[in-house]
Amino acid sequence: MVAVAILAAGKGTRMKSRLPKVLHRLGGRSLLERVLGCTSGIRPTRRLVIVGYASDLVKESLTELPDLEFVEQKEQLGTGHAVQQLSPHLQDFQGDLVILNGDVPLLRPETLTSLLQVHKDCQNAATILTTQLSDATGYGRVFCDDNNLVTQIVEDRDCTTAQRQNHRVNAGIYCFRWSALAQVLPKLQPNNTQQEYYLTDVVHFLDPVMAVDVPDDQEILGINDRKQLATAYEILQARLKDSWMTDGVTIVDPDSVTIDDTVQIEPDVVIEPQTHLRGQTVIRSGCRIGPGSLVENSEIGENSTVLFSVVLESIVQPNAQIGPYAHLRGRVQVGEGCRVGNFVELKNTTLGDRTNVAHLSYLGDATVGNRVNVGAGTITANYDGVKKHRTQIGDRTKTGANSVLVAPITLGTDVTIAAGSTVTDDVPDDSLVIARTRQVIKPGWRLIPKSTDNNPS
Ligand code: UD1
Ligand code: CA
Repeated sequence: MVAVAILAAGKGTRMKSRLPKVLHRLGGRSLLERVLGCTSGIRPTRRLVIVGYASDLVKESLTELPDLEFVEQKEQLGTGHAVQQLSPHLQDFQGDLVILNGDVPLLRPETLTSLLQVHKDCQNAATILTTQLSDATGYGRVFCDDNNLVTQIVEDRDCTTAQRQNHRVNAGIYCFRWSALAQVLPKLQPNNTQQEYYLTDVVHFLDPVMAVDVPDDQEILGINDRKQLATAYEILQARLKDSWMTDGVTIVDPDSVTIDDTVQIEPDVVIEPQTHLRGQTVIRSGCRIGPGSLVENSEIGENSTVLFSVVLESIVQPNAQIGPYAHLRGRVQVGEGCRVGNFVELKNTTLGDRTNVAHLSYLGDATVGNRVNVGAGTITANYDGVKKHRTQIGDRTKTGANSVLVAPITLGTDVTIAAGSTVTDDVPDDSLVIARTRQVIKPGWRLIPKSTDNNPS
């Protein structure tokens, strides 16, 4: 049996943030969600999260994972003190406890699975993930004998100059035989520069404790400050983009593109430069996204294009052209083969199939039928200063340039609206609407200047 405990009670002082460190986001997920994600391979029977600083916020961020158990560490007196808080909760637990620092988000699930396997195979009391870092600043240094058995772990700030030459570091990822750990936890003392209870000190009381090096040292990057957060983002992006390209996605200029790892992309998608895909986004096969686009929590149907545009919380059906310079937000649905572009904003609006809104329009809270042509500059006046109102436009209707549709309003099917009309009343099917003052022409009329001199030099 395996239980997992995640240390997430610290404030993360070096982040200089009001938000607890573990809630800082990395590519669409919090650090803590990522660390939890690493545990998928080991199938733990219990998952405990040690919370303290801003614990309500931390708990709230994980409400979608109802199996989690939260353990309070009221004062943050160190990683050892955090683990001591587990004892009352794991009194009857028999098995291995995997402990993960909540700020090590790039660990691969496979790495944890093989660490646990070594731990079991060797029947260790503890097995610790380590690596050799060229710059080991800030990490605890792990000292071993010739058989990789750990003799001590010394925090960077507690190291002598000689000890600092050891570049084998503690990743903050551990497997423990719980019965052994539980016995020695009360022995920890805060004898160090920070006067904290260090989890790493349990190695003095346990035997055998083995160190296992992870070959890819990027996996163990701990996030203590904003610079490390940015480094982690770079590593994550490189990993994700490599994997999408392997899976048949063209990324024209990977350095200028960012992709959250919650995004799904089908093969034969082309992602042009300066494009950012975020959240629960799905890009179907044959799409061309970018240059210069942001797509967030949206689905883009097969063979559609999104050019220099922003698409948020929206669904676009296949063969649609979005942009240049379109903004879709607030649950927009675009039908098959539609064209939406050139400075068009759609908000909470549904377009049927083969409908065009091609130039300079705002449609808010509108339901538009199939094969509608929304003329250049058509605007739905959906807000009366107090409430939002809906506009309905029937199939094959055409609005003239600069039409204003004052909602609530319903235009029937096959309606034509004359250019420049301000339409305030519902329009029945098959009608022409002209809602503007008639043009007046006064022949022979000329402006008479105020000056008496009719021939200014
Ligand atoms: C820790 C390790 C260090 C290791 C490094 C790897 C110790 C003493 N040191 O150092 O050997 O190289 O991680 O990244 O363990 N936390 C609590 N309660 C507390 C204190 C911390 O829950 O009272 C949590 C933090 O929220 C964080 C994690 O424990 O998620 C690690 O704490 P942090 O202060 O970042 O430890 P490091 O100094 O990085
Ligand atoms: Ca840390």
